[in-house]
Amino acid sequence: MAIFMFFTASPAAAEIVLSPVDYVDDSGYKLQGFLARPEAMPAAGAVVILPDWDGVNDYEKERAVMVATELGYVAFAADIYGADLHNVTDFSEKIRLSTMYRSNPTLFVSRIQAAVELMSDGGEFHNGKVGVVGYCLGGTGALLYALSGIDDVDAVVSVHGGLLDFNVDSSAQQKLLVLSGGEDDTATQISDLEAKLDSAPTTWEITRYSGVEHGFTAFKSQAYDAWADTRSWRSMSSFLEEAFGTKEFDGGKPDTFNTQLIDYEDVEGTKLRGYLSLPTKDIAYNDAGEATPVVVIFPDWDGVNEYEKLRATMLADAGYIAFAADIYGSDLQENLTFTQNMQLSSLYRTNQTLFVQRMQAAIDTVRSTVEDAKCNPIAIIGYCFGGTGVVQYAFSGASDAAVAVAFHGGLTDLPVPQPTIHARVLVLSGGMDDAHGNQTELEEALNDRGESGWEITRYAGVEHGFTKWGAQKYDLLADARSWEAMLTVFDKIFGGMKWKSCTPKPSAASSMSQSIIILSAIFRLIYGLLE
Ligand SMILES: *[C@@H]1O[C@H](CO)[C@@H](O)[C@H](O)[C@H]1NC(C)=O
Ligand SMILES: *[C@@H]1O[C@H](CO)[C@@H](O)[C@H](O)[C@H]1NC(C)=O
Ligand SMILES: *[C@@H]1O[C@H](CO)[C@@H](O)[C@H](O)[C@H]1NC(C)=O
Ligand SMILES: *[C@@H]1O[C@H](CO)[C@@H](O)[C@H](O)[C@H]1NC(C)=O
Repeated sequence: MAIFMFFTASPAAAEIVLSPVDYVDDSGYKLQGFLARPEAMPAAGAVVILPDWDGVNDYEKERAVMVATELGYVAFAADIYGADLHNVTDFSEKIRLSTMYRSNPTLFVSRIQAAVELMSDGGEFHNGKVGVVGYCLGGTGALLYALSGIDDVDAVVSVHGGLLDFNVDSSAQQKLLVLSGGEDDTATQISDLEAKLDSAPTTWEITRYSGVEHGFTAFKSQAYDAWADTRSWRSMSSFLEEAFGTKEFDGGKPDTFNTQLIDYEDVEGTKLRGYLSLPTKDIAYNDAGEATPVVVIFPDWDGVNEYEKLRATMLADAGYIAFAADIYGSDLQENLTFTQNMQLSSLYRTNQTLFVQRMQAAIDTVRSTVEDAKCNPIAIIGYCFGGTGVVQYAFSGASDAAVAVAFHGGLTDLPVPQPTIHARVLVLSGGMDDAHGNQTELEEALNDRGESGWEITRYAGVEHGFTKWGAQKYDLLADARSWEAMLTVFDKIFGGMKWKSCTPKPSAASSMSQSIIILSAIFRLIYGLLE
């Protein structure tokens, strides 16, 4: 395609050249966009960037360069307003232009399509996959494009796009990622959008970031939020990797678990049994001498068993001290009946004091069992019933956990939180899971008392229990995406702070930690042989 002829000369090493590209829409209207090409070509795909309401200018050019350098795709900062309207500074003019396009979806979509068509034949420059990413007004355009029924791109991402009363073409089957500010759109608008998207065979994922307003990725804006910007960029890049087929997602299920049994008790003397999995290296510290975070895993409603042990093993493999905790008791872990699952889970769900007491016992146990881990930062995660638990723990005012992650947690009828919520709360749930409860009420509860923020992601067409390997409701993509969301949040929270344990780093691994490492290796070997 003609567009790539603009690449006459090779760019200087490692320097991305932005080339202006003149083109027209199907009515002959003159447009000018900017093309950035990555160093290595052919690229896995091309990304069309749709500008915000002041036209295609420095911001979009910078994003194009970022897409080319950081993600390795051909990037095209597209023009919507026209070649002579690139840098609209007058406020009333911005209102006039953005209103014009918002109120005329046909026109807006045709301008987007002109840019998509330029990119669609990658020739020798990319392999033909195309994504559309829009910011603010461009995010609205991205949504309009995805819902128009035009099916010529592989992925669409809307970043703080203004939500309109969209018409959804009943055949729209786009893969769509919506990244929304918690202080921009209301939770009700998001629930309405979900319902609209569900009226067509779209595959959507929606993430909400607390405390951020419209324009949270605009570098120079007052609304800029570094956390939400980097989280949304990460989410977008792995979404594109999946859509472009450059990354194979698998559920990551290990062949075998590698855990040691730990017997412990809660304050009332209830006998509990958890399973500890340690990273292969130094137990309490990473290479930089920083305390290794502890992740305590709370089980789903059939008790702590193989599933949670495998998750603990995955976390240990990712470098965390992981502990699959017990809630019900050491004699209630395997082969429970359906009735037992019902009765036990509702017992704890309806008694927050008891539930939190059991969770606290697990946290205290890891702290006292793993040598030198007395002050390491703590994350708590939970599946289904355990997901309910971690949110209840956060709502209880308990302050040991820096982050609480709920995978398809049952979040209906949560106790109203009175005390401060200390943990950053990450909620990952299925778009078809009624147990998610009322999003508006959840956000209100989190906003009212949360001090560390929250993030909520919903996955289209996904039901309760989507991370349980082998189950009918298992969803590979939602499992992989949610696991990755958790790990990147851990990385950001724990990696960004210099956590120091309260005990100084020992000069060499102590004999106890060495023997635990050896034991772990033996366990792994034995389980490996049994498989
Ligand atoms: C946009 O206009 C402003 C004000 O006239 C100017 O300072 C800025 O450099 C322009 N930016 C671009 C990308 O043309
Ligand atoms: C659970 O059931 C399986 C299969 O029947 C059996 O092998 C296992 O020993 C049982 N576990 C317990 C703790 O009873
Ligand atoms: C909840 O559990 C605690 C701790 O076991 C117990 O003291 C309390 O009586 C329970 N509350 C109810 C309403 O059962
Ligand atoms: C969710 O809760 C809000 C606030 O209480 C309420 O206005 C709304 O109707 C609820 N939504 C549903 C679907 O029940």
